Amino acid sequence: METKKVFLSQREIPRRWYNIAADMPNPVQPPLHPGTGQPIGPDDLAAIFPMNLIAQEVSTDRWIDIPEEVLEKLLIWRPTPLTRAYQLEKYLGTPAKIYFKDESVSPAGSHKPNTALAQAYYNKVFGVKRITTETGAGQWGSSLALACHLFGLELKVYMVRISFEQKPYRKSLMRTWGAECVPSPSPDTSFGRKILAENPDTPGSLGIAISEAIEDTLTSKDTRYSLGSVLNHVMLHQTIIGLEALKQFELVGDYPDIVIGCVGGGSNFSGLSFPFVRDKIYGKELRIIAVEPAACPTLTKGSFLYDFGDTAETTPLLPMHTLGHSFIPRPFHAGGLRYHGMAPLVCQLFLDNLIEAQTYNQLQTYEAGIAFARSEGIVPAPETSHAIAAVIYEALKCKEEGVSRTILFNLSGHGLLDLSGYESFLDGKLTDYEMPEEEVREALKKLEGYPKPRR
Ligand SMILES: Cc1ncc(COP(=O)(O)O)c(C=O)c1O
Repeated sequence: METKKVFLSQREIPRRWYNIAADMPNPVQPPLHPGTGQPIGPDDLAAIFPMNLIAQEVSTDRWIDIPEEVLEKLLIWRPTPLTRAYQLEKYLGTPAKIYFKDESVSPAGSHKPNTALAQAYYNKVFGVKRITTETGAGQWGSSLALACHLFGLELKVYMVRISFEQKPYRKSLMRTWGAECVPSPSPDTSFGRKILAENPDTPGSLGIAISEAIEDTLTSKDTRYSLGSVLNHVMLHQTIIGLEALKQFELVGDYPDIVIGCVGGGSNFSGLSFPFVRDKIYGKELRIIAVEPAACPTLTKGSFLYDFGDTAETTPLLPMHTLGHSFIPRPFHAGGLRYHGMAPLVCQLFLDNLIEAQTYNQLQTYEAGIAFARSEGIVPAPETSHAIAAVIYEALKCKEEGVSRTILFNLSGHGLLDLSGYESFLDGKLTDYEMPEEEVREALKKLEGYPKPRR
């Protein structure tokens, strides 16, 4: 009998996060103050984030200890298995070896609790009582709801309206763990009211929801904001995924030729891939692929500029590939990938050719998700299905070329609360969306007066 799942014992859980800033050939350029165009300092962020997380955001230490209180709670489901997708290999008739890191086994069903626990912990230690956040697909909101409950914090979640309607049970999950969840744009903030007055039927976007959550933080007592992706400290907390995977590959005496993850803001991709990017920086040969939706192709079609992280222009300017902060992506089902920007760390690695990017259309990703569900049994989240579409493409290329490669991907989440998308696909009601070039051009025009990052 072949081994399908590689487990680590709980004693073998990594005890430090890996900070790629220590090894990058070119550092990420600093965030800028939109008013002065000058790099921001820690104090500029102090109203939004607790200082201990700001310190992590700018740290260049290679290894950062995971606090015992966080480790203890990560053990609720970690280490996660590294699983060999034999049945998918057989279905594709490929000589490739396909492995996935199964992040769907967390209580919220995705990788998001890895950073939610850490962020809740650091907020608690800093004396914060209440947190606000946005959520796209609802995976982040529910993960933070669990984390806030475990650390005794209040939470309010602004959930992108289209996802709020498509995924009603995510809201139930957040409420079960004790959080409040409202559709965004909401009448609860002045920015939400403004957007609703201008466009009452808007599907919402992550950019709008972030603006609402930040406004709430700035106008409330003992409150800080928490972001589920994009920022350096979020990527850091997710590296536990790749660090576990490295140990697991050592146990089976293998190593990936290709590492794949889907990208919304970049966190599950970074979490899996950064420890492998480090190996690549120091000479290993492998390909590392970020996969994005054709309707929101930030890395492949966006421009590398300084842009705001949110629609209301409340965040500092971040150096990133962007489609423009006022661009509202079409309402495709992978809500967690509907973000105009990308983690600056991921963008810098992309500019330095350490990682590459591919795009897939909605229908291709649902076909991939169904193929995976029918071979491996697990119904993937629509976001994750983007990674699976790339895995299938690469595995079929191996078949065509008659070569065996080892492919590793991040199964970032399951789709059991995303079944309305599957239902629409199976009924033949889903369509592909292309990026609307004209809208992106218009959105990028708004950035003309701002400083430009170095290439
Ligand atoms: C299951 C899943 N995968 C991927 C993503 C994309 O986010 P990120 O790029 O930060 O991993 C999300 C975001 O909500 C998600 O829920």
